[in-house]
Order: sequence, then C-alpha cells, then structure tokens
Amino acid sequence: MITLGIETSCDETGVGIISGDRILANLTASQIVHTKYGGVVPELAARNHVKSIAPLIRVGFEVAGKRLADVDLVAATNGPGLIGALLVGLSFAKSLALALNKPFVAVNHLEGHIYALHVEARRFRYPCLVLIVSGGHTEIVLVRSEFVYESRARTADDACGEAFDKVAKLIGLPYPGGPYIEKAARDGRIGAVRFPVPRPKRLGFSYSGLKTAVLYYVRDNPGFDRNDIAANFQEAALDHLVEVTRRALSETGVRDLGIVGGVSANKRLHEKFKCLARERSLNLLIPSFQFCTDNGAMIARAGKARFMKYGGSDINTDAVARQYLEDIKPPIRGRPQ
Ligand code: KG4
Ligand code: ZN
Repeated sequence: MITLGIETSCDETGVGIISGDRILANLTASQIVHTKYGGVVPELAARNHVKSIAPLIRVGFEVAGKRLADVDLVAATNGPGLIGALLVGLSFAKSLALALNKPFVAVNHLEGHIYALHVEARRFRYPCLVLIVSGGHTEIVLVRSEFVYESRARTADDACGEAFDKVAKLIGLPYPGGPYIEKAARDGRIGAVRFPVPRPKRLGFSYSGLKTAVLYYVRDNPGFDRNDIAANFQEAALDHLVEVTRRALSETGVRDLGIVGGVSANKRLHEKFKCLARERSLNLLIPSFQFCTDNGAMIARAGKARFMKYGGSDINTDAVARQYLEDIKPPIRGRPQ
C-alpha cells in the first residue's frame, strides 16, 4: 500500500511517500523567507507552499521510484496550524485523491508527530507517555492505546520551541532559534548566568517567566555573552521539560516515554532525558533527526494508521487552527472508498 503524506501546517512543506510502513521518500522544503522577519509570516508561508508543493511531490516520486498512479491513499495535515498554509496541502491532497479516485485521509499534526515514533521504532508499546515539544505545542499526552489520548500537561503560555525562538531573537540569533541556541550553548558556560527553572504549581509547563528573565538580563547587561545566555536558558528550558515529565511518569506509572516535535532534535535534550531514562529504567524513544521537525513521512504514517482503522475522511474535511488530540473525531466516511 503506497501512502502519500503532505504536511503544510506551518513553514515547512513536507512530502512523504511510504510503502506499507517503509519510507520510500521524505522531502522537506524549508522556507528561509521568514528569517528576515524573525518569525513565520502566515501569508508568505501559504504562498511558498503553493510554489513548492507540486515540484516537491514530483521529486518525491522520482526518489521513491514510483508514479502518481501507484498511490493508494493520500494523507494531509488538516490542523492544528496556520489556516492559509494548511489549506494549500489539504486542497492539493483532496484534488489529487479525487483525480486519482483514491481515498483521502485528514491527519492531526500532533498525531503526525506521535507517529514519527512509529516510522522507525520497533519497540513502541502502549500505554506510553509522549512529550510533544515543538514551536506551537508543549504537551505531555498519555497514549493509552492506539488513538486513545489523554492530555496530562499543557503549557500555560508559550510553547518550548517558541521560547527558544523568542530568546534567540533577544540575543540576536536568526529564526528559527532552536538550532542556533543549541549551537551557541556549546560554547557557553553553564552557571555563568542564573535563569530560574519554571515551577508552576499545577502539572503543566510555563515559559513566560523564563523568557522575561532573559529579557531583563539582556536589558540590564548590554555587554552580555550570547553563548552564556544560550547555554543557561537552554539548561533551564530543558530542565523544566524533565521535571514535568518526571512528575507525569510518577503519576501514571508508565515506563515508556516518547519525545517528538522540533525541540526533540536538541542533543542536550537527548542527554538529559537519557539520564532520566536510566534513573527510571524507561524505554525512551526519540525519532531520528529528520523525523523530529515537521515532515511528510510522519503524516503518511499516521494517515495510514487512521485509514486502516476508520477508513477515509470526508472530502469536505476542513482545515482547523486548533484541535486537541482527544477531540479528533474518527473520519466520517465520505464517498465510497
Ligand atoms: O515540530 P516543528 O518543526 O514545527 C512545529 O510544529 O512547531 O518545531 C519547530 C520548533 C521551532 O521552534 C524550532 O526553533 C525548534 O522546533 N527546534 C529546536 C531545535 N530544532 C528545532 N529547538 C531546540 N533545539 C533544536 N535543535
Ligand atoms: Zn510540528
């Protein structure tokens, strides 16, 4: 079964082609245009998806050694994300499915990130806690069994990746800030600046206090050392993830932990969570680099799983800016599949 997965929820155009569960192609076109604005400009994101999507799909099929006519299922992200950006991939996928007379399936972006764990991992077991850390989301989800989600911790304000991006901007690093902070942090001295690890009373995340602490430090110390700030912000931001995850593990008694989303590409995050995994004898799963940030293969994989269980989605399925995992409705069968 050949599944084409299309991802356009933010600023990466992603195209993945899988045969069964095996990845044949996974291509991502990143939009550098946003760098000069220091953040994603939704209208530009949508326009650039329009430009990239057809060529990327064409190259994807060349890499996969397949033809459009070989496709059995077309999957696309329908949310959460930027509506204009989502509509590009979603409309393209629906049109393709109609033209090929093949089923279409809508995929929740966060479910896509979770399925990045299935793309390669062989040891995925339920129940499992998944820490989703991206530019738009920071959440711990208890996955009781396939498609059965329970949110255990959400962020009260910024997402973790968003905090990396904002702090990067404060210290003059480009967008997206996460990888630049990680690189600068390697040359910084841990302990040279003290930033507080957020400790909200309820089980959940909060990054606004940490971000403000960096803002004040930068304002009060014009000769600041960028690397020291990066290193110590990163320590506090990641320690917060570890502490909240440790509590969620204790509360649930779950021993399988997955970490997904753009921030899970961070090597220091890997080190910290490997320590936690040793301390708690956890089965820790983190996708390899290309599947951490937004990509089409994870959408294809999640779409295939949904399709196997529930069949295709209604061709009228709309794009949605917000959608919690618990609220995903099984696809409503549209035209006969
Ligand atoms: O999952 P993703 O590609 O898109 C969203 O769904 O948001 O995540 C993008 C986020 C950005 O905020 C980016 O700065 C962050 O992931 N990120 C990182 C790293 N690589 C990407 N954050 C920290 N360290 C990294 N190495
Ligand atoms: Zn994402």
